[in-house]
Amino acid sequence: MPVSKNAVLPILAASLMVDGESCINNCPKLSDVYACIKITESTGSVAFFENDSLCVIYKDSNITQVPEELCRAMRSSVLYLAPLLYRKGRVTISLPGGCNIGNRPVDIHLAGLEKLGAKVEISDGKITVSALQGLKGTQIKLRVPSVGATQTLIMAAATAKGLTVLKNCAREPEVVDLVRFLNLAGAKIAGAGRNEIIIQGVQSLAGVSYTPVADRIVAATLLAAVNACKGVCIINNYPAEYMQQFENLLKQTGLGIVHYSDSAMVYKYAHVKNNINVHTGFYPAFSTDMGPLLSGAMVNNKGALNICETVFENRFSYCSEFEKLGIKCSVNDRCYTQNGYKNHSEDATLKAQDLRAGAALVVAALAKQGCCEIEGVEFIDRGYEKIEEVFSALGADIRRIQLD
Ligand code: EPZ
Repeated sequence: MPVSKNAVLPILAASLMVDGESCINNCPKLSDVYACIKITESTGSVAFFENDSLCVIYKDSNITQVPEELCRAMRSSVLYLAPLLYRKGRVTISLPGGCNIGNRPVDIHLAGLEKLGAKVEISDGKITVSALQGLKGTQIKLRVPSVGATQTLIMAAATAKGLTVLKNCAREPEVVDLVRFLNLAGAKIAGAGRNEIIIQGVQSLAGVSYTPVADRIVAATLLAAVNACKGVCIINNYPAEYMQQFENLLKQTGLGIVHYSDSAMVYKYAHVKNNINVHTGFYPAFSTDMGPLLSGAMVNNKGALNICETVFENRFSYCSEFEKLGIKCSVNDRCYTQNGYKNHSEDATLKAQDLRAGAALVVAALAKQGCCEIEGVEFIDRGYEKIEEVFSALGADIRRIQLD
């Protein structure tokens, strides 16, 4: 199991805050990671792979603006605000890009930085944040437990003067992992994983070598594939502590799971008819990112699936594509319903429109007879390293083709 993309990206941004070299071990070679490398280099710092470790060395420069095209390439460009503000006292980025799963404003990031004493200006789609005297610790309650905003404010407060208390924080494992990295580098942060985090600012941080947590969403993708396609799979470096909810849902449909050491053996012994109903939410509720994968997992099951999405506005882009496979599914506002097949169409050309929807298409295509072509693989490459090799190793007939 690779380390988590959603842990690596904020840690890569935070690496610009530490003096000396920081290395992220087992770093996946994803397009979003390469986008972070470009942002790092665009501001005068250095990032390079050393075997499976990605190392970053901050270098002083008078560059305070991140090129627009790099900001637009992914959502996580916003995570560079706090590190570059700490280093340069002033930074300009463009509004971030990222998967089209909803509106995804950055107001909570900016409101928190202002409460810490930064000046925020927005014009022509660009955000300029300045704090020439540095930031000052304070108490901040997040409007929504946003993962990214929690990470931004943790990084900003880590080197602010004095104490900061963050309330209504995101509790995701990837937030906890960022704090582990920062504390290893000399930060003083307590409470990660709970909704209140306390941060005592320090003057500087020192480079570290760090191995992030395993990717729970990629793990869910593999469980979904075994549940849909049958068979057996052994997953090493399996993040069992984050998988219980997803496992329990699939166990109701005939999936067997045996944990041993840091691995798990996953096997499908039958398609057991059970209806599955979930509401997504902020961690520790059922993860919004696992919704599309649960849909892929259930394509061959006899029971119905209902997902109500509470985090993002546009999470079910795969529904139209599933219908091309003959799957009976529909979306009503923020709720998705799926229940078996209305026909068994053979070949189809499908279009991935966001990262996790794209992964769901791969699972659904592998779970049926016939051949499918999936366009929009660039979305999938954002979060899965060579997904075709992962599934080929499990016996799938899957190839990447270059369209002219
Ligand atoms: C992170 O996105 C993840 N991405 C997403 O995973 C994940 O779906 C999401 O958290 C929720 O868990 C990374 O970590 C790189 P949010 P993020 O800020 O931080 C609203 C994947 O597939 N909001 O927690 O962008 C926002 O609109 C990706 O790997 C504001 O209103 O998500 C949303 O409704 C997709 N204002 C809610 O909060 C803000 O300033 C949660 O968003 C920030 C967020």
